[in-house]
Amino acid sequence: MRTLEIFFWGGLVLAEGVPVSQRRKVVQSFNVRREASSGLTPVQVGNGNFAFGADVTGLQTFHPFGILSTWCWHNFSLPTTPNQTSIDDFTGLQWWTHDRLITYNQPNPAQNDISTWLIQNPQRVNMGRVGFDFGRDNVTEADLGHKSQILDMWSGKIRSSFMFNGAEVEVEMHAHPTSDTIAILIESPLLNADLGIFFDFPLPVRNKFDAPFVGVFNATDKHQTVLERTSTQSATIKHTIDQTSYYTFISWAGSGSVTGPANGTHRYILKAPTSKLKLTVSFSPTTPTEILPSLKGVFEDSQTWWESYWAGGAFIDLSAVESDNATELQRRIITSKYLLAVNSASDNPPQESGLVNNGWYGKFHLEMNLWNSLPLARWGHFELLWRSLPNIYKRWLPSSYSRAKAQGYGGARWGKMTDPTGRSAPGEINSLLIWQQPHPMYFAEVEYRSYPNFTTLARWDAVLTATADFMASFAFFNESTGVYDLGPPMYPVSENTNPNVTTNPTFELAYWRFGLDVAARWKRRQNLTVPSTWITVRDRLAPLPVVDGTYAVYEGISGMWTDKTTASDHPAMAGIYGLLPPPSSGASLSTPILRKTAAKIKETWALEDSYGWDFSLLAMNSLRLGDVDQAIAYLLHPIFAFDDAGYPIGGSRVPTPYFPNSNSLLIATAMMAGGWDGSEGPHFPKGWDVKVEGFVPAL
Ligand SMILES: *[C@@H]1O[C@H](CO)[C@@H](O)[C@H](O)[C@H]1NC(C)=O
Ligand SMILES: *[C@@H]1O[C@H](CO)[C@@H](O)[C@H](O)[C@H]1NC(C)=O
Ligand SMILES: *[C@@H]1O[C@H](CO)[C@@H](O)[C@H](O)[C@H]1NC(C)=O
Ligand SMILES: *[C@@H]1O[C@H](CO)[C@@H](O)[C@H](O)[C@H]1NC(C)=O
Ligand SMILES: *[C@@H]1O[C@H](CO)[C@@H](O)[C@H](O)[C@H]1NC(C)=O
Ligand SMILES: *[C@@H]1O[C@H](CO)[C@@H](O)[C@H](O)[C@H]1NC(C)=O
Ligand SMILES: *[C@@H]1O[C@H](CO)[C@@H](O)[C@H](O)[C@H]1NC(C)=O
Ligand SMILES: *[C@@H]1O[C@H](CO)[C@@H](O)[C@H](O)[C@H]1NC(C)=O
Ligand SMILES: *[C@@H]1O[C@H](CO)[C@@H](O)[C@H](O)[C@H]1NC(C)=O
Ligand SMILES: *[C@@H]1O[C@H](CO)[C@@H](O)[C@H](O)[C@H]1NC(C)=O
Repeated sequence: MRTLEIFFWGGLVLAEGVPVSQRRKVVQSFNVRREASSGLTPVQVGNGNFAFGADVTGLQTFHPFGILSTWCWHNFSLPTTPNQTSIDDFTGLQWWTHDRLITYNQPNPAQNDISTWLIQNPQRVNMGRVGFDFGRDNVTEADLGHKSQILDMWSGKIRSSFMFNGAEVEVEMHAHPTSDTIAILIESPLLNADLGIFFDFPLPVRNKFDAPFVGVFNATDKHQTVLERTSTQSATIKHTIDQTSYYTFISWAGSGSVTGPANGTHRYILKAPTSKLKLTVSFSPTTPTEILPSLKGVFEDSQTWWESYWAGGAFIDLSAVESDNATELQRRIITSKYLLAVNSASDNPPQESGLVNNGWYGKFHLEMNLWNSLPLARWGHFELLWRSLPNIYKRWLPSSYSRAKAQGYGGARWGKMTDPTGRSAPGEINSLLIWQQPHPMYFAEVEYRSYPNFTTLARWDAVLTATADFMASFAFFNESTGVYDLGPPMYPVSENTNPNVTTNPTFELAYWRFGLDVAARWKRRQNLTVPSTWITVRDRLAPLPVVDGTYAVYEGISGMWTDKTTASDHPAMAGIYGLLPPPSSGASLSTPILRKTAAKIKETWALEDSYGWDFSLLAMNSLRLGDVDQAIAYLLHPIFAFDDAGYPIGGSRVPTPYFPNSNSLLIATAMMAGGWDGSEGPHFPKGWDVKVEGFVPAL
């Protein structure tokens, strides 16, 4: 066995390596295999900015799974209601905030139409549907025999095959790593007969959760398609939905033709008589200026990209452990890492349902960005993380300065439920949640551990300064107690409290301290002056609220452990030790209080109402408290479910997939593998023969 030397933060640690051939064996042992469509989740190829979801035929023949991207969005037309015809007409609502009336970006009941428009627009567009056309309408999945499908995660390939009318159809597909292109190789004698490929285009709808499928195909008069150019080897279809338009380029080897649309539809059909069809399909907001990659090019680039993804970065090998629990944990790790690159390695913060379907209209939530993007850093894929960080924060600095200024605060207040322009959707929770604010500090500090140099300091400096300025300004100095309070009004991580009484929530207080500590350290590392307000606020932040010897949700909460509505939703108190490092200023955390809090959560929390990343958070808390078995139990909790293809199940409150679950699992398992400062990993159950490689200890 090979031994590698790996430089860890603060010292040299010897770790057993996991050679590429072994990584490949582990990854491929969890390749997804299906013999029928799931109807709820596809299998996907993609690259973080573009993904294609296939049913069991390898295309979208029977199930219109999505073809989603980072860039394709649509607005419905603005309302025509008097005084609500422009986004500038929207006023929001004024709430009392420490004796000041502050305008919050909340739906105004007197302006229902424009408020609703701002929530529902823009939506992410499902760019199309590509499926088999059997030459007649009445074919169903049940008419196909010997259906078999393998997603090879090592090379990013979906291989599907089935029998129809006594003949075999074989399909192989890859997505290009950097363009919005799929390449499809189809082999079948039926191509010389009735078998063709259809292309169809849906209309976006105004569903908050548009899952499992996005858009509708039966409102054809509300949008337009046109076959713009066609030859014997290519076709271009332009799809126009109000102000949005984009192009689908189809090209194939040999000869054939695209015809359509059929009357009353937006369905086009490619017929290319051959026994072996090489097809590429590409999506673009503009007509292409460069030559599209060939099928061979897409296949080769995809394989190279995926192999370097798996061969690079960190790895956990549990294959020598004889335990079903270890096997299931390994499966979740591998499929989560595949889905991370496909769905979350994006130029914008990823959507909670990635590029599978639309939750919250396809918008992304900035507080979820920590769960969704951090695993790229923790697993050593900074090249993918830097697609969005810190660029998005830099891009949205001006609008975030304005948001803070309009409310009388300094610095930059980050939005919440966001679209690519950085506009935050109106919402009571959206406008009053605050835990997304210190995320830049978390990202920056993690990056600095891997790249402790001036480039890193310079890249993040303006963002951290603006963030810390807001945080210091937001904290309210309470003359009677002599401390800085957070809220009211505000929503804590658990979005189920009364915002007008919510004051000093445990997690947010700890996170404010962490954020201001990092911001101050960032200045010191650059030999720059630390703004005194940051230190003043940090040093006089209200103490963490304690109730019955436990850390409470917020100060003054009643019925903390007795009221089922209080002991439910996200148990964020566990995050002050699970997610955050011990405080580097102020009072230390009390271990007995941390232990009692963890025990109370385990005993009384309504975990059946939790959705997902709660389990990873609790697992990390258990780890730091030294209870590895409990950490594993949380990560394999029956409510924390993953389907056969590794998609995290949303449950009753959010649709499937809900990627903060799988992405947080990667953060928790990175912590098991790499440990944290003062407690080097790996931390796995006694007797587990685990090999890990490439992890930097957690903060
Ligand atoms: C939707 O409308 C908003 C407000 O006018 C605009 O900022 C945004 O760019 C539009 N997005 C699209 C995709 O048209
Ligand atoms: C629209 O605004 C005008 C001018 O502010 C006002 O006079 C009018 O009553 C408003 N109309 C409605 C329907 O609110
Ligand atoms: C909070 O207070 C504002 C007034 O400042 C009021 O309009 C709002 O309805 C209150 N919200 C709740 C949930 O009590
Ligand atoms: C399906 O449709 C074709 C003609 O389009 C017809 O010949 C055939 O009988 C139909 N089969 C079934 C099972 O309905
Ligand atoms: C259009 O399709 C959707 C599902 O895609 C369905 O719910 C709806 O009933 C259909 N509408 C009509 C008018 O057929
Ligand atoms: C197209 O469909 C419409 C109704 O869906 C029908 O009235 C019209 O005759 C059809 N045209 C052709 C050319 O089939
Ligand atoms: C410094 O860190 C950046 C990332 O912020 C990295 O790209 C670069 O290679 C590092 N430079 C040196 C000299 O280590
Ligand atoms: C100051 O803190 C006390 C105790 O938490 C609280 O009752 C009071 O409302 C606070 N004062 C202000 C002005 O918020
Ligand atoms: C800060 O100052 C120290 C001591 O003068 C020096 O060694 C270091 O290079 C400086 N760092 C930066 C980023 O300028
Ligand atoms: C597997 O995990 C479950 C709960 O997470 C636990 O009850 C069980 O003892 C574990 N099995 C083994 C063999 O460790």
